[in-house]
Amino acid sequence: MNVLENHPLDKLNTFGINVRSKYLVEVSSIDEILEIIESEKFKNLKKLVLGGGSNVLFTKDYNGLIILNKIKGKEVTYQDTDCVKLLIGAGENWHELVMYTVENGWGGIENLSLIPGNTGTAPMQNIGAYGVEIKDTFIELEALEISTGKIEKFNKEKCKFGYRESIFKNEKKNKYIILNITLKLNKNPKINVSYGEIKNDLRNNNIKSPTVKDVSEAIISIRKRKLPDPKKIGNSGSFFKNPVVDLNKLKNLQEKYPNIVNYQINKNEFKIAAGWMIEKAGWKGKTINNYGVHKNQSLVLVNYGNAKGIEIYNLSEKIIIDIKEKFGILLVREVNII
Ligand code: EPU
Repeated sequence: MNVLENHPLDKLNTFGINVRSKYLVEVSSIDEILEIIESEKFKNLKKLVLGGGSNVLFTKDYNGLIILNKIKGKEVTYQDTDCVKLLIGAGENWHELVMYTVENGWGGIENLSLIPGNTGTAPMQNIGAYGVEIKDTFIELEALEISTGKIEKFNKEKCKFGYRESIFKNEKKNKYIILNITLKLNKNPKINVSYGEIKNDLRNNNIKSPTVKDVSEAIISIRKRKLPDPKKIGNSGSFFKNPVVDLNKLKNLQEKYPNIVNYQINKNEFKIAAGWMIEKAGWKGKTINNYGVHKNQSLVLVNYGNAKGIEIYNLSEKIIIDIKEKFGILLVREVNII
């Protein structure tokens, strides 16, 4: 196996941050993973698994071993007239997977079109958009425990999915390498157009009975309109999570900000649009040297070229302090800071 030394990471993280990793290796099988994690040289070194690098912000060089997960493969493991179970290698590109399911007319992940990153990292933060999360179609995943080399299955319950959360971002953080995931897709798709803009987009295109492909195309066009393309402008999608508040807190906020954008989750919990608050606080489109807050979506921090990760981190810190002062809400980062 070819272990690279002092390797540049700018092409391996969608923020385009130009740091280096002490060691870097690509793995495409379980045997290769075992060979590297059991070798004397790397056994005791800290390790980080990278998929598409779409949810990380590097603030310094990585003084350890980065393992690039390239395990490929798509296999139908079960099907009947209603559904299909698909086993997917962790190193498959997420959007290419979505396109494959859409072409086959299988429903379930079309609302997650154009999300950057790989399949194996998608469950780690329970990726979600436009009313759908990966947990909705998720059956199980297989992961290799780095300290023991043992392979373990995690079903939906064991993954402890939450809003942009799973066990792999919490108690099992950096302890496992996800090998593959299994999703259950629907051959008689139930279309989810609960997000208003999808409805508008379909109406504008005169589509009355949308297929999964129509929904996917609508979402691709919405995302292209709103979100910067990481191939052109470095970014990691939403930098912060949308905070959840109780009814009392919401009422207090509404007294001062009657138009505050919020969504009811249950009787007493409401999600507040962090992008709206950040915009209201005056950060939208703000640019400092070569980085800043995106002009169309304030939840997204951007690197226009050669910005340092620590500069973007410091900007996020300033935004957090400002939102706390103005709205009394503590924003939490969605992106993993390394
Ligand atoms: N808004 C503003 N100003 C902004 C941004 C948003 O006023 O600068 C308002 C919008 O007008 C809208 C509301 O906030 O009324 C929500 O905005 P949007 O629909 O763009 O969604 P979001 O809540 O900002 C979340 C996800 C996105 C996902 C979209 C659509 C999180 C952290 N982000 O963003 O996910 O694509 O909903 O479902 O939950 C990602 O995680 O990387 C990501 C892009």
